[in-house]
Amino acid sequence: MDQLIIQGNGPLHGSVRIGGAKNAALPCLAATILTDQAIELNGLPRVNDIRTMGRLLAEMGKDVQMEGTRARIQGDLASYTAPYQLVKTMRASILVLGPALARYGKAEVSLPGGCAIGARPVDLHIRALEKMGAQIKLEHGYLKATCERLTGCDIHFQKVTVTGTENLVMAACLAEGRTVIHNAAREPEVGDLIDMLNRMGAQISGRDTDTLEIQGVNQLKGTSHNIVPDRIETGTYVCAAAITRGHVRIENCRPSHLERFLSIMEETGLPLKREKDVIEVLPHKGLVSRDVQTEPYPGFPTDMQAQFMAVMTQADGRSLISENIFENRFMHVQELVRMGAKIKIEGHNALVKGPTPLSAAEVMATDLRASASLILAALIADGPTTIRRIYHLDRGYDLLDSKLANLGVEVSRVSA
Ligand code: UD1
Repeated sequence: MDQLIIQGNGPLHGSVRIGGAKNAALPCLAATILTDQAIELNGLPRVNDIRTMGRLLAEMGKDVQMEGTRARIQGDLASYTAPYQLVKTMRASILVLGPALARYGKAEVSLPGGCAIGARPVDLHIRALEKMGAQIKLEHGYLKATCERLTGCDIHFQKVTVTGTENLVMAACLAEGRTVIHNAAREPEVGDLIDMLNRMGAQISGRDTDTLEIQGVNQLKGTSHNIVPDRIETGTYVCAAAITRGHVRIENCRPSHLERFLSIMEETGLPLKREKDVIEVLPHKGLVSRDVQTEPYPGFPTDMQAQFMAVMTQADGRSLISENIFENRFMHVQELVRMGAKIKIEGHNALVKGPTPLSAAEVMATDLRASASLILAALIADGPTTIRRIYHLDRGYDLLDSKLANLGVEVSRVSA
């Protein structure tokens, strides 16, 4: 299994170009099931989750051509099953459920198990699809779903769910009649999916609001679509510049998708310049602590919590970080503490006391964003840090090693 060895090398400097959003690309790939016509996707991130989704679609019978940041996908499904082997490595495989059911009237998806950041059930996806007329049962670890044509209805999500909203939007596109989704997720990745679906001929209104209205149509057509830049990758490089007091120009990003995060970083004292699709992080002489709590968009993203915490280990004062989305998303804390950070957890709150020098250690990545926080810590540690289990990082960060190396980090990958 690969390990990353990172040796901090002072402040980061230079520019980095952000890739397409993994969490937008995944539903857009799943949405290709809604038509047999060709869909061209551009700006895909070069990460393992995208390859896994490509493999899943190919295994289900789609003709999938993927190269670099582009994919061309067409044809009909020949199988309606998302097998355990693939779903266990990527929970987002659940995104094939809505479109397969809407277009073919059947789908079998291995029930995603627990994951490092909590139980993460899919009950809301299931209940909403059942309300549209699907029959769904659990057998031998698989969700087995069938339906006649789905029928539009009013769906009230009890909790804001990103992939739940995406599954329902895709299902509703080919349903009979009108579906209204209340308490829908407003994440930019949902908006990106809606843009692509509307270009395929869907009739969806309410983008960027918590009420989506979808008028079902009989069929959808092929299109080409550019994936929106990844706001979490963007935020991670903002943190990398901040923690090293570096000077980094982050290109091909959407600062407007990170409004809350960026304004909090400014409140810590980080000087930033924003343009339409560029963020320039300027060197600073010290940051002050700031409390945050994670919330659905447009609030502070749970996917930035771990990285922000790494930065707060270097800020002056105490920072109270409350995780409100996932119940077990502090797996990075023990590893940061092993590197010298002063962090106490109580329930869903973490109290970080800074600034504390960090010492290099051998650490273990536990999930995607937790791994990113360990990279950030490694950038300022007093020697080479070895990060194990980096397959998590390879699932979600586009060309991480070379992007860090371009910014001046000494990074090497070894097979252990
Ligand atoms: C998506 C993102 C993930 C991000 C998360 C929250 C993708 C592929 N992944 O995950 O990176 O961290 O949004 O922004 O886009 N819940 C239920 N029942 C359900 C569905 C969700 O109880 O049926 C709960 C979850 O356990 C969690 C909360 O709702 O507590 C939000 O989860 P959700 O938005 O669904 O996360 P994902 O879509 O899995």
